[in-house]
Amino acid sequence: MAYIYIPWLLFSQILLQVAKHEAKVPALIVFGDSTVDSGNNNRIKTLLKSNFKPYGRDFAGGQPTGRFSNGRVPPDFISEAFGLKPFVPAYLDPDYGISDFVTGVCFASAGTGYDNATSDVLNVIPLWKEVEYYKEYQAKLRAHVGHHKAREILTEALYVISLGTNDFLENYYLLPRRQVQYTVQQYQDFLVGLAENFMRELYSLGARKISLTGLPPMGCLPLERAINFIGHHDCVEEYNNVAVEFNVKLNNMVAKLNQELPGYRVLFTEKVYQFVYQIIRTPSLFGFDVVEVACCSTGRFEMSYLCSEPNPYTCKDANKYMFWDAFHPTEKTNQLVSNYLIPDLLQFYN
Ligand SMILES: *[C@@H]1O[C@H](CO)[C@@H](O)[C@H](O)[C@H]1NC(C)=O
Repeated sequence: MAYIYIPWLLFSQILLQVAKHEAKVPALIVFGDSTVDSGNNNRIKTLLKSNFKPYGRDFAGGQPTGRFSNGRVPPDFISEAFGLKPFVPAYLDPDYGISDFVTGVCFASAGTGYDNATSDVLNVIPLWKEVEYYKEYQAKLRAHVGHHKAREILTEALYVISLGTNDFLENYYLLPRRQVQYTVQQYQDFLVGLAENFMRELYSLGARKISLTGLPPMGCLPLERAINFIGHHDCVEEYNNVAVEFNVKLNNMVAKLNQELPGYRVLFTEKVYQFVYQIIRTPSLFGFDVVEVACCSTGRFEMSYLCSEPNPYTCKDANKYMFWDAFHPTEKTNQLVSNYLIPDLLQFYN
């Protein structure tokens, strides 16, 4: 029983540490997929949306925002912990403008990946386009605060990057195109090459402090369990092994860049995999009752439009569930993961 209190103890220590550092982080800048998208997909023509109920039912005001959760996503918690806004606005959201984006902006798009072919599947924003938006943002920022100040913000900002799961689960394992070209190990290498190009481009554009998240144990997502008939709906070991292999390769690439590019500080947070796996294997230590299925609808297959308001099966208390829909964590999981990451992110500002 005593274990339950550890995350909260840890959290209060984190807050104390953060209080000493918050003034030094000017902005949080986010790239990636649905794990960090705060609503960019609301503005594009795709079926992969979540700007309707019951999404966001535990967000401030119970609003669906386009986040794929019942509440906030990790960048929101990280932003708040660093003394910035309690949420990171989406770049394409017309309710926000450059004066809001000075302290934080999100370019992420649910359903995207490192591979252009992945963003094509559901017609979402490809990673290269996220970078184009970032360049546009840089120009607006210079116009708004001046060149000198803009440079300081862009250099000192914390960049949070989270993607990769869709390249495997929405693209490689689902569609023939990449499977015909590559073995899964070759595909990992192809993606790491794309990730490296992206990281080099961010460096050339002035970014210096980066948190790059690897893959979670993606074989344990409720949707993957649901289709694992032979494995009695346990985690799909093959997918978890691929995630571990891919993370090792990403980590090596990051180590190389940290060596090679002066002043570049990239933190590859591989241990998020272990932390998430620990929650899956010992949920009660974290206050969860259910990790196999999600809160929304039957919890096995539904996400986006299939996770809809009238469904009578949707759970009452999402805090008892690790997953909100068949592919995405609840706000509580997002908070636990953020609290776990924040002490490592603080090292950039010591
Ligand atoms: C992805 O698409 C963009 C835009 O068409 C292109 O510039 C880029 O080279 C493509 N990337 C790869 C790896 O094919």
